[in-house]
Amino acid sequence: MSRIYLDHNATTPPSPAAVDRMSAVLKEEFGNPSSVHHFGQRAKAALDEARTSVALLLGADPSEIVFTGSGTEGDNIAIRGVAEALEVTGRKHLVTSSIEHEAVLNTVKALARRGWRTTLLTVDESGVVSPDELSKALADDTALVSVMHANNEIGTIQPIAELARLARERRAIFHTDAVQTAGKIPIDVKALGVDLLSISAHKFYGPKGVGALWIRRGVRLNPALTGGKQERGRRSGTENVAGIVGMGVAAREALAKMAVEQTRLAALRDKLESLILSRVPGTARNGVAEPRVANTTNISFDRIEAESLLIALDLEGIAVSTGSACSSGTLEPSHVLKAMGLPAHRTQNSIRFSLGAANTDEDVERVVTVLPGIVEKLRSLTRSPVGGRR
Ligand SMILES: Cc1ncc(COP(=O)(O)O)c(C=O)c1O
Repeated sequence: MSRIYLDHNATTPPSPAAVDRMSAVLKEEFGNPSSVHHFGQRAKAALDEARTSVALLLGADPSEIVFTGSGTEGDNIAIRGVAEALEVTGRKHLVTSSIEHEAVLNTVKALARRGWRTTLLTVDESGVVSPDELSKALADDTALVSVMHANNEIGTIQPIAELARLARERRAIFHTDAVQTAGKIPIDVKALGVDLLSISAHKFYGPKGVGALWIRRGVRLNPALTGGKQERGRRSGTENVAGIVGMGVAAREALAKMAVEQTRLAALRDKLESLILSRVPGTARNGVAEPRVANTTNISFDRIEAESLLIALDLEGIAVSTGSACSSGTLEPSHVLKAMGLPAHRTQNSIRFSLGAANTDEDVERVVTVLPGIVEKLRSLTRSPVGGRR
């Protein structure tokens, strides 16, 4: 059976060029970039090249890029680092949104347990954070605002430039988790006006376990790890040279292909979305159509348990994901859809389709051909009323 992968927001397959280059680095450029001899300098040159590539993807200066071990790590270094650095100034208020990834939400929660005052910005059905909400939340002691660039479950793009401007007016530092936008939409850190921005290689056809944090020059930040002087003391530890080089190659490729590829994906995504909504009764798209990253759609299916649909689709060779998580036998609603104020039958019944490089028109055709039958069959197995909570 040929399989269709529609879970690119979870991870992407590393590009062949990235894998080839990583393999060459592992074999031949194995030196420690901190070593002064030939081997070390070759590894250092490879790191520098990747730093320039990642900087180009973000419209940044290479000297402001810090390589990390993941998107999660970048989020942690940014939030904890700024919070700890600013603690002495008496600024002890953090603002984030209720639709962030756990990497941000749980970091903010951990700081709340250590005495930080925190505000979670709510969103409405659109899934977009409102600048007015942020204005109301900002206070004289706000140290940091962290709002994601695009949401991983529904794909909505947040008005970061406006939010960052509001934070700047109150002298608060602004971080954005750009894990779901890097490689998908143009990013220019200066135009966004942010202070910190984190990305993760495996979301744009690079390897897993490597990311980057852009830190605007002058931002005060306590180091998350103490050790050697790697990454200008911001992230100690011998660099994952092969992974970083793979990310550099993926960054170059993403930038070169962005305009054409994202137009192609938007057309495929729109076709998939409109055919599902028209062919499968009791379906609704979650979040606004625009502004949204081109590859993502999130759809709720009335009277369907998302996990059952995911498994049924997997048996057909189609890989998707659900926002809800199964814990201790009960289906936890998606925290994102819940924060948007959607009713239970929408928050527990949602499927995310996230498209990517290998997807074709034929893939979309196959999905919309098999989906109506699968949904009908699953519905016939449940006795609850349409839209009812199970
Ligand atoms: C918005 C967002 N932030 C952070 C992360 C975490 O990135 P990583 O898997 O590199 O830790 C993800 C991954 O799903 C994400 O979607």
